[in-house]
Amino acid sequence: MLLKNKTIVVGVTGGIAAYKALELTSKLIKSGADVKVVMTKSATEFVRPLSFQSLSKKPVAVDTFDEPNTWEIRHISLAKSADVFTIVPCTANVIGKIASGIADDMLTTTVMATKAPVLIAPAMNTNMFENPIVQNNIEKLKSYGYEFVMPTEGRLACGDTGQGKLSDINSIFDKIVCLALSKNTDLKNKNIVISAGATIEKIDPVRYITNHSTGKMGFALARAAYQRGANVTLVAGSNRCNKINGVNQIDIESAEEMKTAVMTASKNADIIIMSAAVADFKPNSFSDEKIKKSGADHITLELTRNPDILKELGEKHGGTKTIIGFAMETQNLIENAQKKCAEKKVDFIVANNLRTEGAGFGTDTNVASIVSQDGSTIKLPKMSKLELADIILDKALECSKNCKIL
Ligand code: CTP
Repeated sequence: MLLKNKTIVVGVTGGIAAYKALELTSKLIKSGADVKVVMTKSATEFVRPLSFQSLSKKPVAVDTFDEPNTWEIRHISLAKSADVFTIVPCTANVIGKIASGIADDMLTTTVMATKAPVLIAPAMNTNMFENPIVQNNIEKLKSYGYEFVMPTEGRLACGDTGQGKLSDINSIFDKIVCLALSKNTDLKNKNIVISAGATIEKIDPVRYITNHSTGKMGFALARAAYQRGANVTLVAGSNRCNKINGVNQIDIESAEEMKTAVMTASKNADIIIMSAAVADFKPNSFSDEKIKKSGADHITLELTRNPDILKELGEKHGGTKTIIGFAMETQNLIENAQKKCAEKKVDFIVANNLRTEGAGFGTDTNVASIVSQDGSTIKLPKMSKLELADIILDKALECSKNCKIL
């Protein structure tokens, strides 16, 4: 349970996105958090407190003077209990009040009294969001250490299109986890480059060669690293994952493009993880025009070798940066992984067998072994890709302590 023993105070203000705070509350509860909800009066016009009360199994605070227990001052005890205080969604009005030191209801008095990290997820009409007064208030709050998950662009409730839509709940949740867990700081100031997904090698304007990778393992690594405070660059090939707010994602198609992006990003990296399924071969040439069948029964597609990015990384940065590779095998898993580890000069290889139940493409779980440069092998049980990501990052951090500083 990711958020066991953590108290998250969720403030809800009056906007059309208020209902989305229900989804967040439910997600936090499922992660083991103790959730306490505070609503402004106008928020209760959009969603009834009873909905939050049913999910959190706790009374919802709305009115400052409605003290359930006479021996405690509610806004102060709520403020003190928070490990993270989040306001989802947060209106321009409430941002303005906090920035100006106005505390005139339960939510604003509580947020003013808290010493916990405060995470604000604004949602409002584009013109309101772009208003320099709102922007200045946001900048002011940032300068005081308030954290933000910025709204995204999209079609808004008023019919306008632009920035102002509440960021997706998963991104807000990730940021809360990041703030709530002290373990996350262990990767603070670390630059981590991760590759994920499949490369696409074009044959002609219509066809291409690729593989079954969905990018789930690489994205799980990026998410876990970000949650632990790292600066993450994710070089993403073809994938079936959602973008992660806060992670610098560089989208590429071919192995050559992946190589350029990874090599460039690696210059400032401390840890590099190649979890992408890179095509070993690409068509000899790309046909500008669609290849016609022209009555042929057989055709031959000639392929040529792609660069081995991991090998080049090992040759360039081995010993000075922590480099991690993956190996997906269908037989002789450990022997093949040991060979790859030595040949590519990497710190360790995360090896998995495509045929093992719970491992492989598109699954949310993995069954992996960690094969290290020093010859040691750790066989891990089946676990979620996010859990495995944390184990890989623990080991990477350990290795990075032994890297030579240039
Ligand atoms: N890799 C790479 N560049 C390639 C091929 C693979 O950087 N052209 C990386 C992968 O991202 C992975 C590791 O090398 O981290 C091992 O990939 P894998 O496909 O298992 O092995 P290969 O080295 O391609 O060897 P083989 O296909 O012969 O098993």
